[in-house]
Amino acid sequence: MDFILFFLILSLSSIPVFGFTLTEFVYPNFTASNLHFIDSTGSFLVSNNGTFKAAIFNPGSEQVNFYLCVIHAESNTIIWSANGDAPVSNSGIMRLTKNGIDITEKDGSFKWSTPPLKSEVYALQLTAAGNLILRDQFNGTLWQSFDHPTDTIVIGQKLRVGMMLSSAISGDALSKGHYRLSLTASDTMLQWQNLTYWKLSMETQAYTNSNYAVEYMSVNQTGLYLFGQRGSAVVIMVNLLQSTFRIAKLDDSGQLIVISFVGSDIKRDFVGPVDACRVPYVCGGLGVCTSDVLSDNPKCSCPANFNLRSHNSSSCVPSDSSYSLPVSCNSTNYSNLSNSSSMSYIRLGFGMDYFTTGFTKPFRYGVNLSVCQNLCSVDCSCLGIFYANSSGSCYKLEDEIGSIMLRTSTNNDLLGFVKILSGVSNDSFDQETADFPLVAIVILPFTGIFLLMALAFILWRSKPQRMGKIKSKKNQPSSPSSEDLDDFSIPGLPVRFEYKQLEAATDNFKTQIGTGGFGAVYKGVLPDNSLVAVKKIINLGIQGQRDFCTEIAIIGNIHHINLVKLKGFCAQERQRLLVYEYMNRGSLDRTLFGNVPVLEWQERVEIALGSARGLAYLHSGCEQKIVHCDVKPENILLHDNFQAKISDFGLSKLLNREQSSLITTMRGTRGYLAPEWLTSSAISDKTDVYSFGMVLLEIVSGRKNCSARTQSHSLDDTATGDHSSSSSARGLVYFPLFALEMHEQGRYLELADPKLEGRVSGGDIEKFVRVALCCVHEEPSLRPAMVSVVSMLEGEIPPTEPRMESLNFVRFYGRHFSEASTMEEAGGQTDAMLYVQANTSHTTSRSISNAYFSYISSQQISGPR
Ligand SMILES: *[C@@H]1O[C@H](CO)[C@@H](O)[C@H](O)[C@H]1NC(C)=O
Ligand SMILES: *[C@@H]1O[C@H](CO)[C@@H](O)[C@H](O)[C@H]1NC(C)=O
Ligand SMILES: *[C@@H]1O[C@H](CO)[C@@H](O)[C@H](O)[C@H]1NC(C)=O
Ligand SMILES: *[C@@H]1O[C@H](CO)[C@@H](O)[C@H](O)[C@H]1NC(C)=O
Ligand SMILES: *[C@@H]1O[C@H](CO)[C@@H](O)[C@H](O)[C@H]1NC(C)=O
Ligand SMILES: *[C@@H]1O[C@H](CO)[C@@H](O)[C@H](O)[C@H]1NC(C)=O
Ligand SMILES: *[C@@H]1O[C@H](CO)[C@@H](O)[C@H](O)[C@H]1NC(C)=O
Ligand SMILES: *[C@@H]1O[C@H](CO)[C@@H](O)[C@H](O)[C@H]1NC(C)=O
Ligand SMILES: *[C@@H]1O[C@H](CO)[C@@H](O)[C@H](O)[C@H]1NC(C)=O
Ligand SMILES: *[C@@H]1O[C@H](CO)[C@@H](O)[C@H](O)[C@H]1NC(C)=O
Ligand SMILES: *[C@@H]1O[C@H](CO)[C@@H](O)[C@H](O)[C@H]1NC(C)=O
Repeated sequence: MDFILFFLILSLSSIPVFGFTLTEFVYPNFTASNLHFIDSTGSFLVSNNGTFKAAIFNPGSEQVNFYLCVIHAESNTIIWSANGDAPVSNSGIMRLTKNGIDITEKDGSFKWSTPPLKSEVYALQLTAAGNLILRDQFNGTLWQSFDHPTDTIVIGQKLRVGMMLSSAISGDALSKGHYRLSLTASDTMLQWQNLTYWKLSMETQAYTNSNYAVEYMSVNQTGLYLFGQRGSAVVIMVNLLQSTFRIAKLDDSGQLIVISFVGSDIKRDFVGPVDACRVPYVCGGLGVCTSDVLSDNPKCSCPANFNLRSHNSSSCVPSDSSYSLPVSCNSTNYSNLSNSSSMSYIRLGFGMDYFTTGFTKPFRYGVNLSVCQNLCSVDCSCLGIFYANSSGSCYKLEDEIGSIMLRTSTNNDLLGFVKILSGVSNDSFDQETADFPLVAIVILPFTGIFLLMALAFILWRSKPQRMGKIKSKKNQPSSPSSEDLDDFSIPGLPVRFEYKQLEAATDNFKTQIGTGGFGAVYKGVLPDNSLVAVKKIINLGIQGQRDFCTEIAIIGNIHHINLVKLKGFCAQERQRLLVYEYMNRGSLDRTLFGNVPVLEWQERVEIALGSARGLAYLHSGCEQKIVHCDVKPENILLHDNFQAKISDFGLSKLLNREQSSLITTMRGTRGYLAPEWLTSSAISDKTDVYSFGMVLLEIVSGRKNCSARTQSHSLDDTATGDHSSSSSARGLVYFPLFALEMHEQGRYLELADPKLEGRVSGGDIEKFVRVALCCVHEEPSLRPAMVSVVSMLEGEIPPTEPRMESLNFVRFYGRHFSEASTMEEAGGQTDAMLYVQANTSHTTSRSISNAYFSYISSQQISGPR
């Protein structure tokens, strides 16, 4: 390339062009066009040390569209452009006057200019950081390109709240594309049509470091950061391998990419979202995107009964040409023709999902499908709906339909419908129940359509990559599993310790601070004086070092402010130890049940929210869903300001299911176990939701769900007048049942921790109790997802109504709990035995299945203690 030559010449610090010397300054009455500076490929300014140049430049292969650009010289990467939406020809002119910069076509037609300035321009400078600055005679800044970023930020540049990046339409044409990146007070997000489809905080590699309001985003040699507190506090960080030059760019693919340049080598350090199918328009309007793990490119196709609009369009339209897709009334293309045609809905296939369902609140909750369709029918900006069967959530797709995601996961109960119009009004048309007449449509052979689409897509995607050889995501630091695990050097990943080091750090395991399910926990001090908690793991069906390290790498790479950070580990011979950050206020059970100052309500709210956020992150924030399997107060640790952090997450993956259910049930974590542990049904994230619901009730009451009722709890049996109530037990009460009964009677204040002495309102308790009861529904699919629990606790969405039919088992269980407790000490029986008793005496109960028996007889009764 002639860059090498360019560089050689540059090292002499300047090049003469037509007797003109390239420097970092030009002065008014300066003009430039590409033709004018053809010998230097359009450059007319070069930064002090040659890193950047400013040029009238054409990024594509066809010499048609020219832009005023700042370019990273070595990699030939455009980091800023002025007239993206108004390109000029190679004879188009950039002119620097006392009033600023303007760009015109050769014939004088206006294309672009800087805004009016406060005073006259003295010079135009390209700084060593790549900032194009208009300076006044006192060396003040009148205007700078760093304040008007296009799609890229470089080291030294701050993207402030209120600024945004816009993707280019493609690598060759710099006009504004579909996607935007903007900053909020807490996050960076990507948007399409003003709808969010990605947040930085949800990435596995992103570590939420503090809760200050975000002021700006920047990149440096070691990572990507969101800063607050005038740059003194990092709010979110993504640690990356050291690199001398890197940029963060909103790519035309709709992904935020961080790229580093080492010599001529270009490397992607970070991509978000990694799954290209999460980009809303990746397959055009209504295109179905299928993730392809083998190649980085997603696969696109049209849904059944839809075809490509045209050869070179990526959008899909109904195959039957007598139907058409409506145009939103907000669109400039809208015509009232739509009124005269009749409307119906075509159902998308199974397993379809839409990006908004993960980011926006449903338009309505708890409605049936026909209500949801009607809401869309009466709204001319609504083009389709997504409907979640289990929760009755109704999402409207407004103004423009993006691509559809094909999800193979089993717990997707979403139904997608697209509004279609038929050309002529049909007299026999019935809008209420209109389903698309599927038989009337020629169903094309799926494979045929698929091949065609795949081919079209490959052609469409295989445009020349301007970035050169970009390494695939396999090179990202997030997958150390295939690498040599003996040298973790990546910041943020756990450190590997020698057993001796940990022996020394804990003073030969002197101070035991707890006993977790996996072994004892000791306090320790690392050589850098940081406090740690060292967990010595027992009970593991010992696995190979490699498997252990793989899991540890995954756990260690999960960073969230509400998750206890894994700092390191040791896997030496048969020793397995984990090193965690030290939490100075111990676990929630001590604070809640112990003999310590009472937790005020607001502190309880913080703790509940924090732990809910932590779990929600495990379930849906990270790349790999992680089910905790052992949510209980002992595993919720507290730090300063009652910041809650979940511990022990990911460890259940070190066990197989038989081991973990045995350990969990035998270990006596009764009270938090979801019924499905005891049946053969699947353990899922909803299993954690159940346990969280139980914890929530304990946070309200300040006592164990299964424990003796304190006398200060003044529920008088005679006063309630409810003699059938099993909460009127002899001394012992199963709190969830009590909560259920008080919920039915609307007497929420009875449930509050008496130690609060009334410093809480009934409404606050009601919110918690409703959420908790929904969480402990027996039927897992009726339990809300943790993200919804967070929204309900935050008050973003109202708590849903608990479903009594799915709470009956609480009654059976509760009665047997109190009966059993009169016979022996409450701690004497396992959950499983109580379930069995409940089942044998209430054989009519359909809600408790016989599966308990088989499970219990084989695993429990004679099992080890
Ligand atoms: C710059 O150009 C303007 C008109 O084009 C002229 O009036 C002015 O004298 C020029 N200034 C210098 C310093 O050449
Ligand atoms: C040029 O200057 C920038 C900013 O001062 C610096 O980061 C970069 O390393 C320098 N490049 C060279 C080639 O000296
Ligand atoms: C102009 O200001 C910049 C900082 O804004 C400073 O680095 C530079 O030295 C100044 N130049 C002169 C000639 O004063
Ligand atoms: C996005 O919102 C802004 C202001 O909130 C509005 O000006 C713009 O038109 C919206 N864009 C789209 C595509 O809806
Ligand atoms: C990058 O910024 C972070 C956060 O301020 C800082 O900790 C780190 O040292 C910086 N890296 C370099 C190379 O300056
Ligand atoms: C296909 O694209 C070409 C230019 O790329 C355009 O001229 C042509 O009209 C397009 N055809 C259709 C059917 O849109
Ligand atoms: C689109 O139209 C609907 C209904 O006509 C209206 O409520 C909504 O505000 C419009 N949205 C925009 C972005 O104009
Ligand atoms: C209007 O329709 C034309 C042709 O179908 C299309 O190219 C254009 O993008 C549409 N404009 C909007 C705002 O939808
Ligand atoms: C569409 O609206 C225009 C005025 O906006 C009106 O003149 C025309 O008759 C309408 N057409 C139909 C089919 O309603
Ligand atoms: C078409 O629909 C719009 C809004 O949906 C309505 O205001 C208008 O009266 C309708 N026109 C006809 C001809 O039905
Ligand atoms: C849907 O709900 C509405 C009102 O809630 C009710 O009138 C309608 O009968 C329901 N439809 C079906 C099919 O259940």
